[in-house]
Amino acid sequence: MARVALLVAAAFLAFLMAAPVTEVAAKRWTVGDNQFWNPNINYTVWAQDKHFYLDDWLYFVYERNQFNVIEVNETNYISCNSNNPIANWTRGAGRDLVHLNETRHYYLISGNGGGCYGGMKLAVLVEKPPPPPPPASPNKNSASTVSAFAHQFVVPVAVFAAVGTMWDAVPRLW
Ligand SMILES: *[C@@H]1O[C@H](CO)[C@@H](O)[C@H](O)[C@H]1NC(C)=O
Ligand SMILES: *[C@@H]1O[C@H](CO)[C@@H](O)[C@H](O)[C@H]1NC(C)=O
Ligand SMILES: *[C@@H]1O[C@H](CO)[C@@H](O)[C@H](O)[C@H]1NC(C)=O
Ligand SMILES: *[C@@H]1O[C@H](CO)[C@@H](O)[C@H](O)[C@H]1NC(C)=O
Repeated sequence: MARVALLVAAAFLAFLMAAPVTEVAAKRWTVGDNQFWNPNINYTVWAQDKHFYLDDWLYFVYERNQFNVIEVNETNYISCNSNNPIANWTRGAGRDLVHLNETRHYYLISGNGGGCYGGMKLAVLVEKPPPPPPPASPNKNSASTVSAFAHQFVVPVAVFAAVGTMWDAVPRLW
């Protein structure tokens, strides 16, 4: 029992230390969701309620022998012309990741087998990530500052203390 409690406490401590990292995680979008990259899907509709932020990723999943992922400019996106690509994101496995590393429009089409004419064309605008939530307003009383401090520092200390106590208890079980 003591060892299980020890593991739970350790896992909780690891969670506390890892938590701040998750706030800035980039998103990986599976294009078309569970319909993936296929004809007869309106990708304008797929994209219209979404916000794409700098360093997000687009993940294209498709039949590798029929389709591909080619980046073009707006004119060639409208006309489905893949003869003057900006970038060829096709890697050959039918599983391609596009890193949205610039704040601008990206135009992606399938240039193979008429895929683009069948609707396989996606335009996204990549935006700057929204600012983090504003810090606590300056006129808040100091009690809330103390409690925020307490949460961040006292809780881990309490966990360490609990782990120490349980550790002391372990030899008695052997
Ligand atoms: C896709 O949907 C958009 C927005 O509703 C519409 O303007 C466009 O004509 C549609 N495209 C096709 C090929 O149906
Ligand atoms: C896209 O590239 C073509 C050449 O392939 C060019 O004629 C056209 O003006 C370009 N369009 C834009 C919006 O830059
Ligand atoms: C894109 O790159 C892939 C993998 O290197 C290659 O097989 C394919 O021919 C290229 N397609 C175009 C249109 O350049
Ligand atoms: C974004 O990625 C592309 C392709 O990998 C690269 O050519 C370009 O320099 C990158 N842009 C920035 C701002 O890092």
